[in-house]
Amino acid sequence: MEIQAIELAHFRNYQGLQINFTPGVNIFVGANGQGKTNLLESIALLSGGGSHRDARDAEMVQWQEEYYRIKATVRSDGQSVALELAFGGERRKLAKVNGRKLRRIAELSETLNTVVFSPEDLSLVKGSPAQRRRFLDRELSQASPAYGDVLSRYARVVTQRNNLLRRFREGAVTAAELELWDDQLAPLAVELLGRRLDGLARIAPYARQIYRGLSRDREQLELTYRSSFPLPEDRLRWLEVYRAALKDRRAEEIARQSTLTGPHRDDLQLFLNGRDARTYGSQGQQRSIALSLKLAEIAYIHQIKGEYPLVLLDDVMSELDPDRRQQLLAELESKHIQVFITTTHLHAFLPEQLGRAGIFRIQAGQLSRRSE
Ligand SMILES: Nc1ncnc2c1ncn2[C@@H]1O[C@H](COP(=O)(O)OP(=O)(O)O)[C@@H](O)[C@H]1O
Ligand SMILES: [Mg+2]
Repeated sequence: MEIQAIELAHFRNYQGLQINFTPGVNIFVGANGQGKTNLLESIALLSGGGSHRDARDAEMVQWQEEYYRIKATVRSDGQSVALELAFGGERRKLAKVNGRKLRRIAELSETLNTVVFSPEDLSLVKGSPAQRRRFLDRELSQASPAYGDVLSRYARVVTQRNNLLRRFREGAVTAAELELWDDQLAPLAVELLGRRLDGLARIAPYARQIYRGLSRDREQLELTYRSSFPLPEDRLRWLEVYRAALKDRRAEEIARQSTLTGPHRDDLQLFLNGRDARTYGSQGQQRSIALSLKLAEIAYIHQIKGEYPLVLLDDVMSELDPDRRQQLLAELESKHIQVFITTTHLHAFLPEQLGRAGIFRIQAGQLSRRSE
């Protein structure tokens, strides 16, 4: 898949912008605060998973304006497709494919997929479990909007159940009412777990293989899903085991007014040669793992969709050492993936890479295309 042209109206510091991209590598170069990440963000939004920096829609509307609108001409599945995403003004949020309004914004991912790689991803291994869950959730939602659906329904029930736990302590809610919420929570939790484990089972072999290549066969990466309650082999038993786990911790949950067991508490564990990479991995190894996970995400989307996603690299070139940088670019170019890169300067690139790339200089929300 590929974005051929994009048109922005009142998006962040872009009053109006209309630009054509190249099918290969596109480089956005400019000083800090000029709008490089903003432009990348607008591309990421077109795959329906929200802002890669978790911005709210209202923040992305240009100051003093009423709405933002992003339009793009995309090639997907051999077809030329018109995408549109708008927020604000009279309507709340609206997405269209070829002029047809989508029921849910997340359905954009049926046409366009993006994998974003930013400096925070380099700390995926070291970061909190929440960061690794988010990685998995974003990835699996892109591959299947149904996953995102289950995830958001589950998250809603957890929030409501937490409110209930608070009110239970105040005596405003009965134990029977709590049980009713467990009836809602448990099947969603179990479905989410099943989907996560299935997804991980498909991603893990790619990550292992890619890591093996990056470490030149020296180290072995293992990914393990760590559930907040013991998961029996037999999936048909998950529901009852989860309900039992909820019961076990009921008193503690009431005391802490929070749901303590379930997929919102789980983690993705990463091991190198059998040792926890979070504790024992060097910074270089941790970065290679993060890179492998991202490249595995790209391969996984390709496996599901039959096409590679767009890859957005936000400020990662300067964060990677020259070796990993060249490995990454060569890998993406060899697969003919459309890539968007932000950078403050061009010396991270080889002359022949620059020769093939589309280079856009960005200054205060204005773009000029330049040839090297
Ligand atoms: N909603 C908005 N309306 C107008 N300008 C915005 C908005 N949000 C952010 N900006 C501006 O965008 C700039 C940051 O752009 P960004 O793309 O993050 O920079 P960089 O080029 O460093 O990646 C800042 O100057 C900020 O003032
Ligand atoms: Mg930036």
